[in-house]
Amino acid sequence: MSHTVRGVVAAGKGAPVRVEQIVVPDPGPGEALVRVKACGVCHTDLHYREGSINDNFPFLLGHEAAGLIEAVGDGVDGLAPGDYVIIAWRAPCGTCRSCRRGRPWYCFDSRNATQAMTLADGTRLSPALGIGAFAELTLVAAGQAVKVDPAARPEAAGLVGCGVMAGFGAAVNTGGVQRGDSVAVIGCGGVGNAAIAGATIAGARKVIAVDVDPRKLEWARRFGATDVVNATETDPVEAIKALTGGNGADVVIEAVGRPETYRQAFFARDLAGTLVQVGVPDPSMTIELPMIELFGRGGALKSSWYGDCLPSRDFPLLIDLYLSGRLDLDGFVSETIGLDDVEEAFARMQRGEVLRSVVVL
Ligand SMILES: NC(=O)c1ccc[n+]([C@@H]2O[C@H](COP(=O)([O-])OP(=O)(O)OC[C@H]3O[C@@H](n4cnc5c(N)ncnc54)[C@H](O)[C@@H]3O)[C@@H](O)[C@H]2O)c1
Ligand SMILES: [Zn+2]
Ligand SMILES: [Zn+2]
Repeated sequence: MSHTVRGVVAAGKGAPVRVEQIVVPDPGPGEALVRVKACGVCHTDLHYREGSINDNFPFLLGHEAAGLIEAVGDGVDGLAPGDYVIIAWRAPCGTCRSCRRGRPWYCFDSRNATQAMTLADGTRLSPALGIGAFAELTLVAAGQAVKVDPAARPEAAGLVGCGVMAGFGAAVNTGGVQRGDSVAVIGCGGVGNAAIAGATIAGARKVIAVDVDPRKLEWARRFGATDVVNATETDPVEAIKALTGGNGADVVIEAVGRPETYRQAFFARDLAGTLVQVGVPDPSMTIELPMIELFGRGGALKSSWYGDCLPSRDFPLLIDLYLSGRLDLDGFVSETIGLDDVEEAFARMQRGEVLRSVVVL
């Protein structure tokens, strides 16, 4: 049996998204059908719509979701109808060369549903990040559905499924922020502010927030920024250095995805410091750096895929931090909207009016 439900589809490069009738199959072996309760609007959804991820239109957007298991396919253990889950875009396979080396947080062959969701005419949909959760129901690999404490409201919990985990993990997992570190975060949207929250929880002594929008900087303070820098008024590299005794930060997190902010992050580090790139660039972007600076500054230049998270380990942990009042997930929820409002939410994101608009179903 299959289910016809409403879902938000990006039909072509730059075209406004539309709510369409989509067909979602019942779960086959190893799959889970999830009734979506809430799904955040992430900048990556907009990257998909703009064709900057790949050209596999039409996309079923949405990938920051919490919901309830509706049904599971054959051979699925540890998951039952009614379970409250956050959907992950990483479900380690256990057998790729990275998993076999004990590094499942990089899994190179992450699992997704094998059956396709389609438009009513049978056209195959590409679910954003293998999820596609701006829809009443979505089909995922069972390993993508991670059980968490149902006391966490879905609007907040869903955000752990992408932006919050990506930012938090960029600081804590990839950047390895430790007690006493100085940290700078360039770009304080949902992802950057989650990095600020992660660095704060990890015990950073100084957390410097950089953005071009004063509203974002106000929010950054709420998540733990000790200092804020408006990059339209002050050179961020000079400002970060001035705030760190002239040295630069131990860890600088780039959460915009542009060459100029990457360059700032590179030069705003202390010697032997770490740069973490979590912002997703457009495929046309390039960067040029003097090799002597690459060598002479030492340290590490890292990319963070999904905060190098292990969803089964990290999602319940972040939800527990939320429920105990130490991680302000509610602070990321700027507004709740309906499925019909995603296009307008993209515009609000671009105007910098929101950290996260969250679709509630
Ligand atoms: N690596 C991952 O696994 C992962 C996961 C989720 C999202 N992302 C990416 O992270 C990035 C941020 O996502 P988001 O949802 O927070 O987006 P967002 O649009 O909410 O935030 C981007 C922020 O950058 C700021 N900004 C823009 N230009 C700037 C500049 N020159 N200097 C300083 N700040 C500037 C904006 O004002 C905004 O606050 C996106 O590229 C997104 O695709 C990566
Ligand atoms: Zn693997
Ligand atoms: Zn995302």
